[in-house]
Amino acid sequence: MTPKLVGDSSNHQFTLLIGILTKPDKYELRHFLRLIYAAQSPPSPPAKIDIKFVLCNLTKPEQRIFISLEIKRFDDIIILDCLENMNNGKTYTYFSSLPEILPAKYDYVMKADDDLFLRLKPLASSLEALPRQDMYYGFVIPCNSMNPFKHYMSGMGFVLSWDLVEWIGESVIPVNNTFGPEDKLVGQWLDGGKKAKNRFSNKPAMYDYPGTNGRCSHDLIPDTIGVHRVKRWDQWFRVLDFFNVTKDIKPSRLYTL
Ligand SMILES: *[C@@H]1O[C@H](CO)[C@@H](O)[C@H](O)[C@H]1NC(C)=O
Ligand SMILES: *[C@@H]1O[C@H](CO)[C@@H](O)[C@H](O)[C@H]1NC(C)=O
Ligand SMILES: *[C@@H]1O[C@H](CO)[C@@H](O)[C@H](O)[C@H]1NC(C)=O
Repeated sequence: MTPKLVGDSSNHQFTLLIGILTKPDKYELRHFLRLIYAAQSPPSPPAKIDIKFVLCNLTKPEQRIFISLEIKRFDDIIILDCLENMNNGKTYTYFSSLPEILPAKYDYVMKADDDLFLRLKPLASSLEALPRQDMYYGFVIPCNSMNPFKHYMSGMGFVLSWDLVEWIGESVIPVNNTFGPEDKLVGQWLDGGKKAKNRFSNKPAMYDYPGTNGRCSHDLIPDTIGVHRVKRWDQWFRVLDFFNVTKDIKPSRLYTL
């Protein structure tokens, strides 16, 4: 399988793979997300964080060329054996494939939506003291629940420890139950397998963009890990501005900002 731990020769306390599930044709969004994550000063240590875009099979000839260009430049693409127009099963394929396809394992694996703004440093800090095993972390559903042991973590962005990623690939429970809302299914799998004894809901640090989703939304707050449902340019602007993502830009005679 995947014995080696990514970055295990360094002083990182843990490693995290963030897989952003998105579609092949969303070139401009990937470009924008790369800029946003590159702009955040590296949170390491404590964490080594790799961010990859997770696609299903390419279906158009131009995708093979354009996405090959992205791979040559960024090497941050994972293409799974699945069909993008299939509403169901991509999250299962994602987790169950990783132990087979990754050259090395991570301590944690995150599944994130492509309309999620993540702050890497607070995310890493929030995971630092948590168990590395049997761990399920995220924003517990329903919106007003504070009990991570009931129901499941929202698909906006949740984290599993590596042993649970391996379990998803090996257990007979998930493979027979892959059709439906994928975040809810993950909770059902773990409950069915009596897994994830360690669960953490990071409310109020993750939430939906203000005003977009009832009680899952609240105002932007300084102690934020993730904001979900950021879709429009005015929303991205407000988020990047509020969190000072570009404040440390270096002065130069080449531009005035
Ligand atoms: C995805 O592409 C691979 C390689 O072309 C192919 O073997 C596989 O059957 C495809 N998967 C699906 C679900 O279409
Ligand atoms: C899973 O599905 C397969 C094929 O439908 C069936 O043979 C098997 O008994 C099921 N396993 C469980 C644990 O439900
Ligand atoms: C952004 O910078 C301003 C001005 O320096 C500061 O008052 C504010 O607290 C910062 N916001 C966050 C979320 O760190």
